[in-house]
Amino acid sequence: MVSKENLLTSTEVAQFVAKGFLRFDALVPDDLNQAAMREIEAGVKSAPAGTPLSQCYLPPSTLGQILRMPRIQGIIQSLVGPDPLFDHQAVHVRQPNQDAAQHMHADSIIDTRTHFDIQLMYYPHDVPLEMGGTLLLPGSHFRRVNESEIARYQNIVGQIPMVCKAGSILVLHHGIWHCGRQNKTDRPRYMFKVRLNPAVRQLRLWNTDDLTEETSKHQIIFAGVKGAEPDIQGILAQQEPWFEWGDGRLEIVNRIRLWRFLTGDETFDAHYWLTRLENMPSAVAN
Ligand SMILES: [Fe+2]
Repeated sequence: MVSKENLLTSTEVAQFVAKGFLRFDALVPDDLNQAAMREIEAGVKSAPAGTPLSQCYLPPSTLGQILRMPRIQGIIQSLVGPDPLFDHQAVHVRQPNQDAAQHMHADSIIDTRTHFDIQLMYYPHDVPLEMGGTLLLPGSHFRRVNESEIARYQNIVGQIPMVCKAGSILVLHHGIWHCGRQNKTDRPRYMFKVRLNPAVRQLRLWNTDDLTEETSKHQIIFAGVKGAEPDIQGILAQQEPWFEWGDGRLEIVNRIRLWRFLTGDETFDAHYWLTRLENMPSAVAN
């Protein structure tokens, strides 16, 4: 059982809906990072796809110990529920002094669900900029492209290289555009990734204490924490530098749809974007 303080807040989940990722810097303590490096170098045993995560990485696995950290359990549970299914894992190694980066790609044109998987990435050592790091494009998770058809794009305005301290965790929506950047140092770069599938309906799985539903208005009112209301509409309407014509209406509408799905409130809207599209009156004028 994950305690509430380890779950994500509504603000954090809304950020995930808007941006397609969350990052948690230097979350894992250094003794575990060093033990994880030894485990990764020795080879990490995988499990069959569809195995409950609780049956993977059993003790004395250090990676298991990391995945079972209360905060990481809270992050996982908030997005894909308790005891999600293991999909696959990968130890990504970028060799020293590479002359090329991995091409930009998106993994899931075949995946048209509103339900989503997460890719949890763990960085066991410091990743400075010259070491590359995972590159991601915030807010790109609703743009379904056929895997490598975006490979020609070397840089996109607004992209984020995952430059981070040892023990950092990155959680990605399965649709986000990403790649592994070129490692220009003389040391190999390691990243451990595990993909997780939800085993329950993704409905208010996080700490929703800052949400109260006022059914009479058929609208979610944010009660707020310490008087500060989470501005969900504002978060879901955030612009990314790569948006066309500076409004990103396709992203905003898709974010609202995902937020409705996650909260169960089919009347939620941000700045009238989706309500306008749903206005199809059937009454005939007198
Ligand atoms: Fe990928």
